[in-house]
Amino acid sequence: MKRLAIAALVAACLLLQLISAGACPPSSPDGIGKFHMGREIAKVMGHEGIDWLERDSREDEEASSRADAALDLKPDDVVADIGAGSGFHTFRIAPMVPKGRVVAVDIQPEMLTCLETRAKQLGHPNVEPHLGAIDGVRLPSDSIDLALMVDAYHEFSHPAEMLQSLMQALRPGGRVVLLEYRAEDPQVPIKPLHKMSEAQIRKELEAAGFIWKTTHAFLPWQHMVVFEKPKR
Ligand SMILES: C[S@@+](CC[C@H](N)C(=O)[O-])C[C@H]1O[C@@H](n2cnc3c(N)ncnc32)[C@H](O)[C@@H]1O
Repeated sequence: MKRLAIAALVAACLLLQLISAGACPPSSPDGIGKFHMGREIAKVMGHEGIDWLERDSREDEEASSRADAALDLKPDDVVADIGAGSGFHTFRIAPMVPKGRVVAVDIQPEMLTCLETRAKQLGHPNVEPHLGAIDGVRLPSDSIDLALMVDAYHEFSHPAEMLQSLMQALRPGGRVVLLEYRAEDPQVPIKPLHKMSEAQIRKELEAAGFIWKTTHAFLPWQHMVVFEKPKR
């Protein structure tokens, strides 16, 4: 009788383990196995992907110039391009803020080396490469007017911590703009973990305390979602 009870207990424990394993969302080969607010975080695109970021077809596919124009920047704005990569957007934005600057933040030193070389080649003294951390931008408090994240946020391994550090780095009333490939649109030819729905973006940014202002729908592949840091 005692043996039977022990066997039943072991079986129950195994069953419980199986049930709880089944309750975990399955992870994808493109993800890091960590979930944030119901979404699996994508693996970081390595610096080996620079050619893809700088592909000739990108302007046609993403209408990047229209996206940057819609940022509606003032000449003296300080912009942080978070997850700047090789600087595809950084170098388009730099001439829009001749009296300000673009802080190009990335966690891959190889990306920053590329950015530094290009800043010299293209003659952009107002581009400042900056090494961030996986859990924070490492920028002074109240030092930036706009944080831009293009195809980057979905890769942040510590999204909540990154947003918290951005909240600190932005001036009151400062803006956060996310460009992410539309998860709602199966025609957008990008892997699922590298896309985000508008609802998911809003859920995560609003949970971090940002105020949603607008979502632009004019880009061919991406959402452009604009938030604001509360004005104290
Ligand atoms: C897909 S690339 C996009 C690069 C660029 N924004 C563009 O549109 O060409 C994403 C970049 O985000 C960077 N990244 C990932 N996690 C980061 C973090 N926590 N802080 C800053 N950059 C990060 C990666 O190193 C990579 O360069």
